[in-house]
Order: sequence, then C-alpha cells, then structure tokens
Amino acid sequence: MAGKFSFVSVMGALLVLTIFHDPIIVDAGQGVPEVALFTFGDSYYDAGNKAFLSKNKNPPQTLWPYGKSRDDPNGKFSEGYIVPDFIAEFMSIPNGIPPALNLVLIFHVELALPSPTLLFLGLRRNLSMISTWSDDYIEKSLFMIYIGTEDYLNFTKTNPTATASAQQAFVTSVTNKLKTDIGLLYSLGASKFAVPMLAPLGCLPIVRQEYKTGNDCYEPLNDLAKQHNEKIGPILNEYAKKPNGGFQFTVLDFYNAVIRRTTRSYNYRFYVANSSCCGVGTHNAYGCGMANVHSKLCEYQRSYFFFDGRHNT
Ligand SMILES: *[C@@H]1O[C@H](CO)[C@@H](O)[C@H](O)[C@H]1NC(C)=O
Ligand SMILES: *[C@@H]1O[C@H](CO)[C@@H](O)[C@H](O)[C@H]1NC(C)=O
Ligand SMILES: *[C@@H]1O[C@H](CO)[C@@H](O)[C@H](O)[C@H]1NC(C)=O
Repeated sequence: MAGKFSFVSVMGALLVLTIFHDPIIVDAGQGVPEVALFTFGDSYYDAGNKAFLSKNKNPPQTLWPYGKSRDDPNGKFSEGYIVPDFIAEFMSIPNGIPPALNLVLIFHVELALPSPTLLFLGLRRNLSMISTWSDDYIEKSLFMIYIGTEDYLNFTKTNPTATASAQQAFVTSVTNKLKTDIGLLYSLGASKFAVPMLAPLGCLPIVRQEYKTGNDCYEPLNDLAKQHNEKIGPILNEYAKKPNGGFQFTVLDFYNAVIRRTTRSYNYRFYVANSSCCGVGTHNAYGCGMANVHSKLCEYQRSYFFFDGRHNT
C-alpha cells in the first residue's frame, strides 16, 4: 500500500505543478515581478497543467462553464480565478498564472519523475540558460504547497471502516510526504513557504452528495483533515528552528476560513454553501462540464461558495 500511495500522491502534486510568471515571455523591465510564486498542489492550485497532461484532449476544466466569468476556460477548476491567482495579484504579478507545462520546453515532463520537487529542479536547470531563475530569485520567491485532498478522499472511499490507528498512519504518510517535499525545495534554495491548512473535506458538496449527509458535513473526512492540519505547524517549525537556515513560513487556517463560510454563508455574501453551482445530483455536485453529463449551472455563480463539487467559485 505504501508504494501505491506514493504514486497517487506524487501524481497529485506532480501533475499540477504550477510555475507562475513565465520569465521567458516577459522582458525584464516590462512589469517583471521581483519575485515569483511557485505553487505545488492538487486541482485547487492547478493553473492548467493537468489539462496539458490529460489523455483526454478536452477535459471538462478546459470547457465552458469553467472560466465563464473570464470568458476563458483555461484549465483552472473555477468559473473565475483560483487562490494562487489572487495571491499573485497581491504580489503584483500580472495576468494570472500560466501553467508551467505550457512551455514547449517542458511539455514532455513525465510521470516517471519520482517527485514534484525533482520536476522543479529539472525545470530550473532547463530554463536556467534563458531565464532569470537565479539562486537569489528562488530565495526571494514564495512557494505554496497544498496537498492531500485526493489522498484523503480516496482513502475514505477505499477504506470506509478504517480504524483510528489506520487513519493516523495514513495521515502520517501524507504529512511525511509534505515534509519531504518542503525539505527538498528548501535544499534547492527555496526559503519562503506558504502552506494552507486543508479544507474541511467532509463539507465539499461532492462528499455530502456521495455520503448522503444532506445538509451536514461528513465528519470522518473533517477529522482526517484536522489530524493532517495539526501536523503542519510542527513540520514547518522544525525547519525554521535550524540555525541560520533562513527558513520562513506562514500557515493559513483555510480549514476555519471555509467553515466560517459554510456555516454563516450570508455574512460572506454567499447564498448557497452546501451545494455546488455546476453539476448534477442532490447537491448538484457531480460532472460539471463533462460531455456526457447534463449538468446544471446556477444563475448567479458569485452567490455560490462552491462552483463544482469540490472547487470554489
Ligand atoms: C529538461 O530537458 C531535458 C533535455 O532537453 C529533458 O529530457 C527533460 O525532460 C527536461 N526536464 C524537465 C523537467 O522539463
Ligand atoms: C485509492 O486507494 C487505493 C488503496 O487505498 C489504491 O489502490 C488506488 O490506486 C487509489 N486510487 C486513486 C485514484 O487514488
Ligand atoms: C442547503 O441549505 C438550505 C438552506 O439552509 C436548505 O434549504 C437546503 O435543503 C440545503 N441543501 C441540501 C442539499 O441539503
């Protein structure tokens, strides 16, 4: 199981490696940011790489209604922007995040690579002749990592009766992977990390729909997310304690940010936070954008907290 797990997890992180700001296409001096934002993660942070690597030529996230509010279904799992786009904007990085794999150079990045961090290393080496990714640039840049969603959803589905100790062991295996990835990036010169806590996975509309919880969240998945989240701080603190290491980090409590919006949605201008805007099923959570699914699209996307069964508007 350990072997299988690492495959799943590596895929999750690797497929969607997002390098934003493409240093090749913008000349220095024309709005080139002083720093880059590198994001690693699952579909929440996918700037469109998964679509490039998909066997299916037109995966749903590249089709309407994804990207609807931007008139541009570009492979991001949202009707508009994703979290890293907003962070990029705060960092004055223009035009949203292009997917790293959009670069012809690296189009053939293969899944055989053992780790997303090695992919990063390869990218950096390949681009180093023509880009501004100096050591200094990497050191100043921000690295965001968000992993685990797919791992826990799959674990819960395939092990519905897992004991508490099996759950703990699984959480440890996922967080160890996070720890290793951060350590590798750190050893490659990265020094600024932003690591959001996992969302309350049991509150995703697709989870409510599949586990038939009605208006409630599915607590076993929230428990896994909480166990995962408890380990993030200590992992980062361990790196930060190294003398003269220069390791800096911030943790966003995304878990409670989501809970606040699902429980008091009106306060955050969302009218619906228990089902999704696009899809089919009791919670409108399945199949948004899929060719063979007649999914419904809500009228006012902005008033929904969830766009599809697992991603936010
Ligand atoms: C880097 O370039 C080499 C040779 O062109 C290629 O085989 C390799 O896949 C590239 N690595 C990445 C991560 O793009
Ligand atoms: C889900 O987990 C099972 C075992 O726990 C594993 O065999 C399978 O490959 C995983 N599937 C996906 C899609 O992650
Ligand atoms: C979502 O919440 C609304 C308002 O509380 C409720 O009327 C509706 O039944 C809930 N939807 C589901 C699928 O539970």
